[in-house]
Amino acid sequence: MPLHILNSMPLIWRWMPSTVFGNMPIEYYGDWLKVAAEEAYHFSLLRDYLQQHGHDYGDFPAHQSLWEMAQRTAHDVMVRMALVPRVMEARGLDVTPGLIKKLQHAKDNELVARLEIIHRDEIGHVAIGSNGFAIFASNANWHARSTFRQLVDEYMKGSLKGPLMMWCGCRRGLVKRSWRI
Ligand SMILES: [Fe+2]
Repeated sequence: MPLHILNSMPLIWRWMPSTVFGNMPIEYYGDWLKVAAEEAYHFSLLRDYLQQHGHDYGDFPAHQSLWEMAQRTAHDVMVRMALVPRVMEARGLDVTPGLIKKLQHAKDNELVARLEIIHRDEIGHVAIGSNGFAIFASNANWHARSTFRQLVDEYMKGSLKGPLMMWCGCRRGLVKRSWRI
């Protein structure tokens, strides 16, 4: 998770200018500034935890899937918005509650508290990504749901296991849906 958080930062700063001259509502830019601030906070929460336990960021191996997806979608901000927040970060929402349960079992209440903050904020990130994707699709006159499914088919086929609990909707109405790939 710390690697995903650190990787999110350059992505956000690239999303902002890449859409400055696009037809995006002013809230879009405020939303992504909020995400940037929260990702920095999450990183500090986890790094502080590691340092309190005699370690630091980079001491443990971590997967690179979010960054790899960012590289694969670098040509199109709408494609990136569909696959990074709506799939990669949404996948994090699916797995974090199970991780929290295991840590509760191990009585690591300090890490549980930090992950609960991150999980709460990440729901908002997926909602913001969903909202941005819907606006981009609408601006291009594309059907958001079918475009999203095509993109998942193209970029994720074979690498996504089991039903994906999709976190769909706008900021004010995030809905958790089970969607079988
Ligand atoms: Fe995030």
